Amino acid sequence: MKIASAPLSNPALHAVVLTQDNMSIPADLDASFNGALSALVADEKFKAAAGSSLTVRSLGKMGAQWVGLFGAGTGDANGARLAAGAASTFARKKGLTTLDINFQGGGKAHAEAIGEGIVAGNYRYDRYLPEARRTAALESFAVHGLDAPESDLLTGLTLGQARSLARDLINDPPDDIYPETLAQAATQLGTDRLQVDVWDHDRLKTAGMVGTTAVGQGSDRKPRFVHMTYTPAGESKGNIALVGKGVTFDAGGLSIKPSGGMITMKCDMGGAAAVIGVMSAVEKLGLNVTVHGIFGAAENMLAGNSYKLGDVLTFNNGTTVEIHNTDAEGRLVLADCLCYVGKMDEVTHVVDLATLTGAAVVAVGEKYTALYSNDDDFAGELLAQAKAAGEGSWHMPLEESYNELLKSDIADIKNVGGRSAGSITAGLFLQNFVAKGKIWAHLDIAGPAFLSSPQKHLEKGGAGPQVVTLLNWLRSI
Ligand code: BES
Ligand code: MN
Ligand code: ZN
Repeated sequence: MKIASAPLSNPALHAVVLTQDNMSIPADLDASFNGALSALVADEKFKAAAGSSLTVRSLGKMGAQWVGLFGAGTGDANGARLAAGAASTFARKKGLTTLDINFQGGGKAHAEAIGEGIVAGNYRYDRYLPEARRTAALESFAVHGLDAPESDLLTGLTLGQARSLARDLINDPPDDIYPETLAQAATQLGTDRLQVDVWDHDRLKTAGMVGTTAVGQGSDRKPRFVHMTYTPAGESKGNIALVGKGVTFDAGGLSIKPSGGMITMKCDMGGAAAVIGVMSAVEKLGLNVTVHGIFGAAENMLAGNSYKLGDVLTFNNGTTVEIHNTDAEGRLVLADCLCYVGKMDEVTHVVDLATLTGAAVVAVGEKYTALYSNDDDFAGELLAQAKAAGEGSWHMPLEESYNELLKSDIADIKNVGGRSAGSITAGLFLQNFVAKGKIWAHLDIAGPAFLSSPQKHLEKGGAGPQVVTLLNWLRSI
């Protein structure tokens, strides 16, 4: 997808973005339809709500094949994103390959949101669909009326493409994406500035990554550990670690899931996918912070050698964990990664992302990431970035007294806390592996990682949450 170098005179779709305070259709456009467009607006009670649309075939009345009015609500950057996303979604549905957007007003934030929204709205996972069920993707677009340079639109494209990479990795079937191939997706990103280190099973064993190897031991696909390091060209303004849960398929292990709960479990590497998505864009965006992208990858399966209930694992920070449920596996993989980050003295902030608990889905649904942090200011920062990116995040409490629920008779803790506050006790579990002095946030993306129905301009399936939010946070440092 490209930004058209010259204005598109005869685009497949000509989109006019309206806001609730400025509903005026350009006079020449309305005149081409002899006033029928403004009549239609009144007739359909079109109020320019963000993401709403009115589309018509031009039937030769103008060069464009289709004309659409798209609502941006109040006209803020989030409204612009939804309008652009709706236009792009419509284009994809009809297989329209060129798009021309008229958006009056708005600067940098609007341009980035529009670029990003166009990519997100146009995304389809069609790798395995027959030709007859595919539609053409957008090839080029132009945006008029913005008070921002084209480079801001390009930034938006980069953000959108980072998210699309995460979506592809989530949507790909579990027999395509297993620990080795998930690691390869990271390796492919390697450059001079982005070093990628992949550990194989032997190295995991020697390094005492007991959580990842235990979870992965019932699978024929051996686990991996990945550490990507981005070093900025100029002076580095910070040192950040992102950590992802990369369970490429979660059958639940011996605590097997019922089929209904297993069907979407290819999405259980959504945290690692987000980390890979972010890392794919750090160099293009010229970030001036050092970023570590880290994930553990394992398949949680059932076999004669699966890890068992009652097993006790001793993690690298000395914490012992008694396994009470092999389906609470993500926290074990993350615990290894957090111990590893704990030894990286330069790192000040660590953010982990994980499709960690069904309880988070029950609590906040598919529109919110459950956000936990040991630092309220940092939580506030990530909430603000999520809001600006049009992503839902909700600040949840790390209620200390619930640590009681994690007590084990024979080890420091057990890996489950019982039915109540399941997403919180998962967060508390992780906190045991966060080194003193590090500012930490835990993003439980179990709901928004995989949509059971379309959400705004996002098709159902892998949604790549938090990629844009985190990239914008990193850009702001
Ligand atoms: N991967 C699941 C969590 C999940 C559920 C992600 C639904 C996306 C959608 C996780 O590994 C899991 O199975 N968690 C258990 C924890 C329980 C055993 C304490 C759960 O949520 O049931
Ligand atoms: Mn599980
Ligand atoms: Zn899982």
